[in-house]
Amino acid sequence: MSDRENLVLEPGYAILIDKGLISKVAPEEEIIGEYAPDFSNGKSDVIDLLDVNGNAIIPGLVDCHTHLLWTGDRSNEMNLRQNGSTYQEISAQGGGINRTVTSTRKASKQELISLGRERLSQASTYGTTTIEAKSGYGLSVDSEIKLLEASSALTNNNCNVLPTWLGAHDCPKDKSKQEYMEELINVQLPIVCENNLAKWVDVFCEPGWFNLEETESIVNAAKELGLKSRLHVDEFVDSNGLNLAAELGSASADHVGFSNSDSREKAHVSGTMQVFLPGTPYVLGKDLGNGINDCLDNNWNFSLATDFNPNCQTLSLPFVASLATHRLGMDPLAALVACSRNPASTLNSELKLNVGSIYEGGPADINILKSKFVDYWCQTPGISPIEKTFSSGSIV
Ligand code: NIG
Ligand code: FE
Repeated sequence: MSDRENLVLEPGYAILIDKGLISKVAPEEEIIGEYAPDFSNGKSDVIDLLDVNGNAIIPGLVDCHTHLLWTGDRSNEMNLRQNGSTYQEISAQGGGINRTVTSTRKASKQELISLGRERLSQASTYGTTTIEAKSGYGLSVDSEIKLLEASSALTNNNCNVLPTWLGAHDCPKDKSKQEYMEELINVQLPIVCENNLAKWVDVFCEPGWFNLEETESIVNAAKELGLKSRLHVDEFVDSNGLNLAAELGSASADHVGFSNSDSREKAHVSGTMQVFLPGTPYVLGKDLGNGINDCLDNNWNFSLATDFNPNCQTLSLPFVASLATHRLGMDPLAALVACSRNPASTLNSELKLNVGSIYEGGPADINILKSKFVDYWCQTPGISPIEKTFSSGSIV
């Protein structure tokens, strides 16, 4: 992830874009000589030229874990946390996920689509061109479908949006766990699959929410219907969730803050991507943990993502990468790989063309930075480091 020699080209290259694709990456003179024979004074009538003034160009960023669609406001919960209430206690007292469920259920599909568009446009400001979007604030057949349909309606030229079904985010207040498990497996899941509403299933696998056995039942039922998984595991304690994700062959296991090193190694070997979400412990007032450094020390693959949700309201991957670099000592280039090539490898199977890197034949999803240094991309936590974004060859 830090192999600068192989990952970063020297200054002086140009990128040729044709019909939304990167058709060539070569030294500037070569591209101008071949494709802009009339070139003079920085202009050509044959092709459109954009001079980036030597600034660095990075891939379109890939956010592989977001709770994009929900309504409501839980900003009162920070004060509760500061006065000693835990996430679990706030949830038990009527806050947390179920509070957001109450407000989200009231929103119409059209309202959710409009909200989604605003949020995607924020994500674009920070260079995101591909985003995963989970349901999970409906927790009923109709409202989970409404959320997934709203997510599917969001894909546009500026951003790929890939929906994940997270019906197992919490147990709704009006059902017992057993009743809800039955609804998830026998009602929600078949509807999601028959109507191709999601690309993956997710489960909040954590003591107090869904245990290992319940998670396994949901994931296996989904697998039988051809749906792959990406899971929330080991966010608050090590419950062996990452180990389970690796055994189940999940595409990714996310949070993984408390996972043990054996599970991390197992995930690396079996190809389950660990996704760290440092924005979440940051807003919950917790330590960022040593999982990222454990992976770096052992060369285990991992990704970073925003986890955009009612507590963690950022859609900025540069900010999340700033936490990893400024607070945990991660190399900015490795952080870039963790926000582009690596997360893309968990999503590419669902896209027509592989995203997450700049290569000939690939989609022209690229960001021009406001700096000549690639490392700049995550060093402006409060403002966007991006000068211009291209998504499928069009300026966003
Ligand atoms: O990934 N931990 C589970 N789900 C979300 C947060 C849910 C919420 O608090 O609304 C997460 O952090
Ligand atoms: Fe999450």
